[in-house]
Amino acid sequence: MAIEGRSEGAGGRIRLGMVGGGQGAFIGAVHRIAARLDGRFELVAGAFSADPERSRASGAELGLDPRRVYDGFAAMARAEARRKDGIEAVAIVTPNHLHAPVAVEFLRRGIHVICDKPLTATLREAKALAAVAARSKALFVLTHNYTGYPMVRQARAMVAAGELGPIRVVQVEYAQDWLATPLEATGQKQAAWRTDPARSGAGGATGDIGTHAYNLACFVTGLRLEALAADLQAFVPGRRVDDNGHVLMRFEGGARGMLWCSQVAPGNENALRLRVYGETAGLEWAQEDPNYLWFTPLGAPKRLITRGGAGSGPAAARVTRVPPGHPEGYLEGFANIYAEAARAIEAAREGRAPDPAVTFPGIAEGLQGVAFVDACVRSSRRGAAWVRPAF
Ligand SMILES: NC(=O)c1ccc[n+]([C@@H]2O[C@H](COP(=O)([O-])OP(=O)(O)OC[C@H]3O[C@@H](n4cnc5c(N)ncnc54)[C@H](O)[C@@H]3O)[C@@H](O)[C@H]2O)c1
Repeated sequence: MAIEGRSEGAGGRIRLGMVGGGQGAFIGAVHRIAARLDGRFELVAGAFSADPERSRASGAELGLDPRRVYDGFAAMARAEARRKDGIEAVAIVTPNHLHAPVAVEFLRRGIHVICDKPLTATLREAKALAAVAARSKALFVLTHNYTGYPMVRQARAMVAAGELGPIRVVQVEYAQDWLATPLEATGQKQAAWRTDPARSGAGGATGDIGTHAYNLACFVTGLRLEALAADLQAFVPGRRVDDNGHVLMRFEGGARGMLWCSQVAPGNENALRLRVYGETAGLEWAQEDPNYLWFTPLGAPKRLITRGGAGSGPAAARVTRVPPGHPEGYLEGFANIYAEAARAIEAAREGRAPDPAVTFPGIAEGLQGVAFVDACVRSSRRGAAWVRPAF
């Protein structure tokens, strides 16, 4: 796909811009590492902060040309779209309420978007953004980074191959403890916007980590949510969004699931864990021990599948970097999403379809995640009534 009026070049690194991710931010630095790991992207521009001074200081620290460090994302989109060597893709790493307005500025100009989750703060915005993305020639990549782990790819391939039989039960949880106290009252930046419904959306833990758990469950099982019943709480006094949620799920086809997300569970750091049970076997995977996958066939001993080791198949192998026993983790998994994005962008540059093995979450998964949060909030307000997600 040639993007009108822009110089694509025959090859070379993909010119990347970034919105958000300035000094003191969390995930922007992770995106920069992930983009660098395989040498397929080069960061050349950014609007790193709502504060122009901080944006400039952040750009200088990253060694960028000061003329390509912008005071605002709209100015950046306009200026970069005009340049012959303008950015080809933008990473969006701002708080949630800015994902939609930023993405729209770039998608409209044919610039590929790599956006962090959740897709947007509201379902209305998610639907509007999906419509813009559908009209744009540019790609939309959503960094549900846990889908980049080799053992998660392995689990998905095993379910798809029928190695578990028809799926009956899905148990997924994402527990943390960093919001067990009113951290937002101290001014801590990441806590402040995450507990402000205007910036995070109506879901707190559900939007922040529940969407990861939900996406992981759907990615591995291929199931589609039919209805849910959610019981959400804000345990910390005065908190305006949930910090703990229990969700019952019914999937199309009859499978049942439970999702627990919590940011007030002492002793938990990033305890994302998935268990899937079919008629003939089960699978268990935990993010904090990501190089291992348990396969539990009914009536037979449990088997431990190791990343790069015996029993690990081609879906895992194509995103495996180092031999078994040398740990790969969060950064490599994140970089796998960037590598998949690069393959798709390079194919688009050359006007060909990407290799069918290229897999990354996109706008559809983003919309499903925001619809999941919306359904959780609606259900919980009605006393944990069963509701359907409005995909
Ligand atoms: N995939 C993951 O594992 C993961 C982990 C953490 C956060 N996230 C997501 O990443 C996003 C950012 O989270 P974070 O923890 O890094 O937040 P953060 O508060 O640390 O960083 C947000 C950044 O956005 C900047 N920003 C705010 N308004 C801006 C504007 N108008 N223009 C340009 N920059 C602006 C801030 O200055 C800051 O640099 C959120 O959507 C969050 O849900 C994803």
